[in-house]
Amino acid sequence: EKDPITVLVTGAAGQIGYALVPMIARGAMLGLDQPVIIHMLDIEPAAEALKGVKMELIDAAFPLLKDVVATTDAVEACKGVNVAVMVGGFPRKEGMERKDVMSKNVSIYKAQASALEQHAAPDCKVLVVANPANTNALILKEFAPSFPARNITCLTRLDHNRALGQVSERLNVHVGDVRNVTIWGNHSSTQYPDVNHATVNTGAGEKPVRELVADDQWLNTEFITTVQQRGAAIIKARKLSSALSAASSACDHIRDWVLGTPKGTWVSMGVYSDGSYGIPAGLIYSFPVTCEKGEWSIVQGLKIDEFSRARMDATSKELVEEKSLADQMDDSMKQLQEKL
Ligand code: NAI
Repeated sequence: EKDPITVLVTGAAGQIGYALVPMIARGAMLGLDQPVIIHMLDIEPAAEALKGVKMELIDAAFPLLKDVVATTDAVEACKGVNVAVMVGGFPRKEGMERKDVMSKNVSIYKAQASALEQHAAPDCKVLVVANPANTNALILKEFAPSFPARNITCLTRLDHNRALGQVSERLNVHVGDVRNVTIWGNHSSTQYPDVNHATVNTGAGEKPVRELVADDQWLNTEFITTVQQRGAAIIKARKLSSALSAASSACDHIRDWVLGTPKGTWVSMGVYSDGSYGIPAGLIYSFPVTCEKGEWSIVQGLKIDEFSRARMDATSKELVEEKSLADQMDDSMKQLQEKL
């Protein structure tokens, strides 16, 4: 039997956490032959609920689950962790400004970055789910400087999967036959879902999505806004934000990263930009990537038309703004700490 892999889930008492931990324990994240140990972190007000989740994990008697730790202590939670899924964070509440949410999350991600850096395995793979996901990941990266930048990513796979879902519904084909859509940029409503290189595996071979849909108007407008606004549509319908699809996509993200993407297929991941496609280096930006042997690489050489260029730049502009807002928060926090 393989040695267990230790997976940290922060915010584990929340909705995504509740959907995610049983998927991990069933092998959806790391494989059906891979034993796991799950560390769950949440904050004091959620400590009782977290205990309940641990009780249920025990009650489900998952054969792959070798141990469960439920704690409100970040140091204990981060010890020896190989994969960290950061779902915990401060949610945006009604009437809150973006910068208020940002300042709460800057302090959370700063503290958790240090705990991870000091106690997790040095090659720990990190996936940030909590919003603002790209910028939280960037903060984490900046405050865990000894971690390789390539090990810090954020979740845009849900948006990617939503795009696959929309194409499959429109064409009435199985979602598993659609591939190579791309989500560019921020996990926010400025993201750019791009089908220019996407294909469908039909009985008559691989066909471009643009050719099969044959309605550029739909692809250039409604398709894009549906994917961009899908999170809001789910909140409207469920009165809660997407949880099972977010959890499932988090498993897809880690599984493909660790075990590799199928040949000829790419996925979208928020990763540290190296300047590819003219996106400013040093942002966490969603790119098309392939994975092999535990490493992602950005798909190179895709043709970018003017329509795409404008949208890729608009979402990168938003990320630059978020970054500068986060930096300001960090400066004002430092000044406050010096005063105290
Ligand atoms: P939730 O509010 O149900 O759960 C969040 C949990 O985090 C709560 O149990 C809370 O106590 C905990 N928490 C808060 N501060 C913490 C801290 N400092 N350390 C550890 N835990 C902490 O929220 P839900 O629905 O599970 O969503 C979680 C996050 O994921 C939100 O930020 C949401 O916006 C984001 N999200 C991201 C998606 C993506 O595709 N990137 C998709 C859907 C949600």
